[in-house]
Amino acid sequence: AESLGLSGKRVVITAGGTLEPLDPVRYLGNRSSGKQGIALALAAQQAGATVTLIAAHLEVALPSAALTVQRVETALELQAATELAADTADVVIMAAAVADFRPDHAEGSKIKKRDDSADPVITLVRNPDILAGLVSRRNARGARQLIVGFAAETGDERGDVLDYALAKLERKGCDLLVVNQVGQDGQGQEKVFGQDSNQVLILDRDGSAPVPAEGSKQAVARAVVERIVNKIDAFQ
Ligand code: PMT
Repeated sequence: AESLGLSGKRVVITAGGTLEPLDPVRYLGNRSSGKQGIALALAAQQAGATVTLIAAHLEVALPSAALTVQRVETALELQAATELAADTADVVIMAAAVADFRPDHAEGSKIKKRDDSADPVITLVRNPDILAGLVSRRNARGARQLIVGFAAETGDERGDVLDYALAKLERKGCDLLVVNQVGQDGQGQEKVFGQDSNQVLILDRDGSAPVPAEGSKQAVARAVVERIVNKIDAFQ
């Protein structure tokens, strides 16, 4: 029988990649397709949750399932929408790939190519860390809210991926961190983006052993939701 471990729970999930405009026609973006985030939204809904999906740029169609979907473009828009929705949520899952930097300003009109002018220089400024901010807001309210982060590490980081991920879990302060196991089986970082399958380790702030999950992004989503259900049960 289907377990409905999230009945009556409000779950907010972010998906896709933020786009940071340079001018009215150009942007800086990333390769997130939204597949993993959408799979999570459907898995949470199947577990009985009321789901709000906050979707940045997607490479795939939104499911027709009766999800509440809010579309955003930039990291700042994603932050505003997620903070508002999170204020009344039991669970927040940050599966979106948020741009760490944005152009310091967007030109009001298309940047022109002129032979007589110097090549343009783009200055980037830091975007807020939305996940860390959600944790601070939750803690300030003293709310019993479960916050789940994702991590996609690039191959150039030194040392053990697990050590690095544990440090990130500590730094971000979330309850669970789902670490994409990139760099295994000759997989490059770009391999997880847009793919149909994923291989993850689910790390827990309480120090319990990491839980591996792999297979389709739907299977990984079910494993993450199962872990969330176990944690929520422990709240009560
Ligand atoms: O969309 P798909 O093609 O299916 O690919 C799925 C995925 C690889 C995009 C997804 O599984 C994933 O790992 N998403 C997070 C990727 C990422 O941005 O990792 P990060 O290490 O940069 O960020 C860590 C966490 O902080 C993430 O939960 C991220 O949402 C959050 N973050 C990051 C930067 C920022 N400024 N604010 C944030 O909240």
